[in-house]
Amino acid sequence: EKEGYPHFMLKEIYEQPRAVRDTIRGRLSMTTGQVSLPDLKLSEEELLKIQRVVIASCGTSWHASLVAKFMIERLARLPVEVDYASEFRYRKPILGKTDLGILVSQSGETADTLAAQAEMIAHAMPTLAVCNVIGSAIPRRALGSISTNAGPEIGVASTKAFTAQLAALFLFSVYLAQIRNTLSSEECYRLLSALGELPNQIDAVLRSAAPVCERLAKEFYGAEDSLFLGRGIHYPIALEGALKLKEISYIHAEGYPAGEMKHGPNALIDETLPVVCVATKDPNDPESVLKYEKTLSNIQEVTARNGRVIAVACENDQEISRLVEHVIFIPSTVEALLPILEVVPLQLFAYYIAVERGCDVDQPRNLAKSVTVE
Ligand code: F6R
Repeated sequence: EKEGYPHFMLKEIYEQPRAVRDTIRGRLSMTTGQVSLPDLKLSEEELLKIQRVVIASCGTSWHASLVAKFMIERLARLPVEVDYASEFRYRKPILGKTDLGILVSQSGETADTLAAQAEMIAHAMPTLAVCNVIGSAIPRRALGSISTNAGPEIGVASTKAFTAQLAALFLFSVYLAQIRNTLSSEECYRLLSALGELPNQIDAVLRSAAPVCERLAKEFYGAEDSLFLGRGIHYPIALEGALKLKEISYIHAEGYPAGEMKHGPNALIDETLPVVCVATKDPNDPESVLKYEKTLSNIQEVTARNGRVIAVACENDQEISRLVEHVIFIPSTVEALLPILEVVPLQLFAYYIAVERGCDVDQPRNLAKSVTVE
């Protein structure tokens, strides 16, 4: 059932174009420029009353939630709070009827996420499940849902469920933006056609990045520590890259916002430290370009201290090739969708390093696929 792949994780990484395609299928019409999410169970009127979105989740799903905060705030101009589900109940959250709760969970069975959902329901909030297992506990208790159609995920390290979550949350953000009238129809069209092209772009990344990541793994598998950096919407991808590496290869990895380095972590940099930097941009988006330029100066702070930078950057970026030792190139797209392309090489990097270190990729020590205790 691994269909010729040596591990489920690699098979699932390669299933991502299909997982994203199945998650957007039927929910997006390029002829009308409309998004339809029939299982939302919230009318446009009800959605217009929402004043804040509160998301709770764990692990990789928490990283998808952090990306969703950037998507929803930027596109639909609605404030979003993201919590670790395991922390949610323990700070007496201030919640009310005009808040929309979103639970992001691959399995739909994570105990902490279920408990956060119960807390939201106790505050009379409508809840929305973004889950990969239809009929699991979280969507059963939710008012509405947006299923991710990634198919069964067997590898303990989540990969295709994550990119499917990002695609589902992007659709929801554009839908909200349409209802709230925060984007022009041209802008919506640009975003939705970018989403339509995404599965083929993921395919292209798989083809071009896999050999590069395999080569990099041979060079870096002996590392004991590593850093992953990103800014804005790319910061949660740095966190996700670090989580993938630590959970399957047991190399200590930390994700940081690029601009935080000078407030402490710069002290860690020496000529042995691998520093993976997400430095992509949408050239048609001035905010994205500005962020990229700031990230470039953060990268220069690392190279000036002889840190070993591996950058994830967009094709045709010659500036970055001059600055750093290694670059993994991905195609460019709209800013809100770049995370889906960026994470793919980071998954492959973690995978090949774990293989090189002889780790049990599909069954890392001390971890379970579904965490049903709090
Ligand atoms: C990491 C990973 C975990 C899960 C977390 C939440 O690769 O898979 O961090 O993301 O345990 O699980 P779900 O999404 O099932 O609620």
